[in-house]
Amino acid sequence: MEIFGIDVGGSGIKGAPVDVRTGRLTAERLRIPTPEGASPKEVAAVVVSMLDHFGWNGPVGCGIPARVKQGMAHTAANISDSWIGKNAARLFSKASGRPFAIINDADAAALAEMHFGAGHGLKGVVLMLTLGTGIGSALFVDNTLIPNTEFGHFWLRGRVAEHYASDRVRKEENLDWETWAARMQEYLSHIERLLDIDTIILGGGVSKPSRSEKFLHLLDTKADLLTAELRNEAGIVGAAWTARRLIANT
Ligand code: BGC
Repeated sequence: MEIFGIDVGGSGIKGAPVDVRTGRLTAERLRIPTPEGASPKEVAAVVVSMLDHFGWNGPVGCGIPARVKQGMAHTAANISDSWIGKNAARLFSKASGRPFAIINDADAAALAEMHFGAGHGLKGVVLMLTLGTGIGSALFVDNTLIPNTEFGHFWLRGRVAEHYASDRVRKEENLDWETWAARMQEYLSHIERLLDIDTIILGGGVSKPSRSEKFLHLLDTKADLLTAELRNEAGIVGAAWTARRLIANT
């Protein structure tokens, strides 16, 4: 069964059709830069043009950087505040004429990783962190997702944590890998003071082996520390996978 997956991020909107039985993309993904300001209307226009590009008329799953309940955004980070209170599922369905399921982007990526990647078969408490423009989090207990956690948003050293330790901050502040890893260590230690975690999976661009080899050995966690396997496809795959569950069952 194929479903279209879209991952709306602070810097890029990525999408591709996905075989939701295997978790594989069935065509090369397309990335369109996120419009400045990322208002609901502008993002909807990009989403429509992406579906038209692929000639896609079936169901769509979409991850957005917001707390999402029943298709509605309850927060907004790295996208316009005007998302708050907007029913993204309704907006995208109306704009495109296709049925939509909406989920938090980190929850989407983590669901993909738990089903098809590094988290497959893991029990206990598993935390996935997506390190990119922000820090996304997804928490599982025995494979059940506790949705909409926002562990990128606690306070660390006088800043919102993701403004201190995200990959964007590493680039913007021109931090070397040791300095950034020290910040990530503080971040992880803080989380481990609050939660008893069995496995932490690090995802996002920095989970590529060519990057993770620069900092992984500098991190020390009580939990087993893994890197994601699906990398920049996880958000697309998880969004599509979610739409399968929401749409096929209704
Ligand atoms: C948002 C999360 C999102 C994460 C990754 C954070 O700023 O609050 O909802 O999952 O960025 O995009």
